[in-house]
Amino acid sequence: MAKVKSKYVCQSCGYETAGYLGKCPECGSWGTFVEETDIPVIKDVQIPDNCPPMKLNEIEMNSEIRMSTNISEFDRVLGSGIVQGSLILIAGDPGIGKSTILLQTSGELCKNNKKVLYVSAEESAGQIKLRAERLGVKSDNLYIYPQTNLELIKKHIEEMKPDLVIVDSIQAVYTSAIQSSAGSVSQIRECCNTLMQIAKTQNISIIVIGHVTKEGNIAGPKVLEHMVDTVIQFEGDKYKSYRILRSIKNRFGNTSEVGIFEMGSKGLTEVINPSELFLKEYNQTQTPGSTIIVTSEGTRPLLVEIQALVGTTPYPAPRRVANGVDTGRVLQILAVLEKRIGLNLSKQDVYVNVIGGIDVNEPAADLGIALAIVTCVRDVVFDSHTAIVGEIGLSGEIRAVNHIERRITEAQKLGFKRIIIPAANEIQENIEGIEVIKVKKILEAITRGVKGNYDN
Ligand code: TYD
Ligand code: MG
Repeated sequence: MAKVKSKYVCQSCGYETAGYLGKCPECGSWGTFVEETDIPVIKDVQIPDNCPPMKLNEIEMNSEIRMSTNISEFDRVLGSGIVQGSLILIAGDPGIGKSTILLQTSGELCKNNKKVLYVSAEESAGQIKLRAERLGVKSDNLYIYPQTNLELIKKHIEEMKPDLVIVDSIQAVYTSAIQSSAGSVSQIRECCNTLMQIAKTQNISIIVIGHVTKEGNIAGPKVLEHMVDTVIQFEGDKYKSYRILRSIKNRFGNTSEVGIFEMGSKGLTEVINPSELFLKEYNQTQTPGSTIIVTSEGTRPLLVEIQALVGTTPYPAPRRVANGVDTGRVLQILAVLEKRIGLNLSKQDVYVNVIGGIDVNEPAADLGIALAIVTCVRDVVFDSHTAIVGEIGLSGEIRAVNHIERRITEAQKLGFKRIIIPAANEIQENIEGIEVIKVKKILEAITRGVKGNYDN
């Protein structure tokens, strides 16, 4: 009998060693090594050679290569539908709504006469039925299969030949070829490999669900991201109703698109005008320390409110807390404000928050953040009908941002009367109904947008 080898595998990054280690030399995590056993690979097996090299010009394209999900926000993130024979990973926190959106998607695909196999490795058939009733999903083309064993799943996929297979979740399925427990890195890697082979050889699209660990990594983790064709992150605050689908890797489309949904009593519904959602609680009779920026999520402009709070610190070292924006970016903006417009913040705590729980990760938000801080420090109000975009350079200059026309149009659509933009931005077409104010320096933006006298 072949000797069974044992090894220790870091559950965070997949690094392997022969003996136990406290700290992973690869990713630096502590206490993540788990013993796993491998059955040695039998060499010299006959690999079927059924796909010889061929000329690019001679490859025939199947006309129906993409399946629409009937959910336009989801289609957009996927790059206009699910590509036949692709393996897609949907990753997100537990309870964010992954099973919900995929059951809804299954229902929609079945309406288009597609056959869907929903493998539920975590919930019983009865539980899926309950959710389906709540979502109003019913179809003769939708098969629910509560199973955790990959060999059985494979057998049924081969027999059924569905158009789409959903595996909920990859952490709960196991293959008998490996002895380690379900959810370990080896199991996940092996199961994903098998699913990839099924997808490619039989031209069946497969969506796998993956849970995210506490630290925000896809559990099981980078190995999975490398193997699949598309990685879609399902984000959002569990305590807020909206959810964002973001593609972070896509072999068949671009990765700049996002899809926005709202979770309600009948599952997830698409949000057609997201800016309205984020500005729902925006108070027109503003308080100091609040500004509206136009950020760009993918190619889509979004209006969000930035709030800042600045106060004298009781601590020896002042605190800088940023929610929804990068703390490093806020520190840089504070440094520029101190140096270029003489705002003294060395004894002040600074808190910056993006309302709505969304993450804003682009430099175009700089000016909005800076003005929120400035208005809070000086106790003045920023005009509530003026939106702001602009990146701040280290010498206090306002630098150009991308997609400027789209941002201006979005602000105008939402009823803003004015928008402050970088002077360096060229505008090709004139946008009616909104005054565009071009600025070169932070101080200019302050004097144009602050109500009343700004005393420097
Ligand atoms: P679920 O899809 O089970 O999450 P995941 O598969 O990512 O773990 O969604 C769970 C949450 O969604 C749960 O907190 C209840 C909520 N939910 C609704 O608010 N409305 C609904 O119609 C459904 C089905 C779920
Ligand atoms: Mg689930």
